[in-house]
Amino acid sequence: MKLSAIFLGLAAYVSLAIAQSQEWGQCGGIGWAGSTTCVSGTACTVINPYYSQCLPGTASTTPPVITPTTTPTTPPSTGPTSTVSIPPSPTGTNSNALARAAGKLYFGTATDNSELSDTAYVAILSDNTYFGQLSPANSMKWDATEPEQGVFTFTGGDQIVNQAKVHGQIMRGHNCVWYNQLPSWVSNGGFTAAQLTSIIQNHCGTLVGHYQGQIWDVVNEPFNDDGTWRSDVFYNTLGTSYVDIALQAARAADPGTKIYINDYNIEMTGAKATSMLNLIKNLKSRGIPVDGVGLQCHFIVGEVPTSLQSIMQQFTALGVEVAITELDIRMTLPATNALLAQQETDYKNVISACKAVSGCVGVTVWDYTDKYSWVPSTFSGQGEACPWDANLQKKPAYSGITAAWS
Ligand code: XIL
Repeated sequence: MKLSAIFLGLAAYVSLAIAQSQEWGQCGGIGWAGSTTCVSGTACTVINPYYSQCLPGTASTTPPVITPTTTPTTPPSTGPTSTVSIPPSPTGTNSNALARAAGKLYFGTATDNSELSDTAYVAILSDNTYFGQLSPANSMKWDATEPEQGVFTFTGGDQIVNQAKVHGQIMRGHNCVWYNQLPSWVSNGGFTAAQLTSIIQNHCGTLVGHYQGQIWDVVNEPFNDDGTWRSDVFYNTLGTSYVDIALQAARAADPGTKIYINDYNIEMTGAKATSMLNLIKNLKSRGIPVDGVGLQCHFIVGEVPTSLQSIMQQFTALGVEVAITELDIRMTLPATNALLAQQETDYKNVISACKAVSGCVGVTVWDYTDKYSWVPSTFSGQGEACPWDANLQKKPAYSGITAAWS
């Protein structure tokens, strides 16, 4: 190669290295080797220790730290900082105590902020002999946490994290990247691949960085039921690389968090489960971080897949853990004694499958009571999917759960 060509290459490299970051571009953070200055009219703003971004506005000498809109009990810039230390195991014969005695991390439930003003509901929710883990049903989703670009609200998520912390319960973060409950500024923003990469990095990095030390559903529902990739703004702009980008950002933001991909209809042998198995193999072969697969398990009474345990074993054989993340088992209403008895058997079979697979770390029901289930408003004419009824009384399904853990 001629000396002039080497010089030209070097000059291009140098000019690239000193170029200012564009609006919304990255301008700092642990591991960042690019430019730390922003184009005029934008300011380099610390989003979290791993990510600073050029946000519209005037530069100040000290980049401001974006803080939550409320003041949680822990320092607001980082949010709750507990690590995934396993809480002491409760004793007794309730659902979480039995799950722990069976060697699992938790038996847990989804909950939502609006439910936390129901004192009878909260009394059961707070009892860690019943529940050792909480999932926020809505308040950590994209529309709730970054409704406008670069504007983060942690209020709802912090409330649920604090509810869990006070009662010695583990949190599952849910979720970073999903086609649904996605603000239109993301879905209709017309972003380039580079811009959307930065947006995903910022969103996942900020969320996982804020809610430190949790388990996270980083990618939610990436596949269609036929096993093809879901066509959404992430896939359509970035192809499958959006999964890598989200997982890597989550890992960088909190190396102590277990990072998962979560989906439904992967609980039985078929095209969708095969696609998820292939994705995990592919990620592992390329060294992309992934710790677990979440099987949602939104089932129908009498139709719990018989291949559930074998599917979980196929995932754990690839070197990831699994969790049952959103269990409910719905029926066509009205409920009958026969349907409730079948539901008891169904819950027992699902818990037994997790119990039998050493890499299955725990089971979460998608709210413990029919009072707050998402099922009736989503599946017309169906309901009664949870182990406690709408009056907060245990159903036969609860006995199925405890029988299986015992
Ligand atoms: C549901 C919530 O429970 C509802 O309150 C909301 O209206 C819609 O989303 N799969 C998921 C969850 O991953 O986030 C969904 O939660 C249920 C299906």
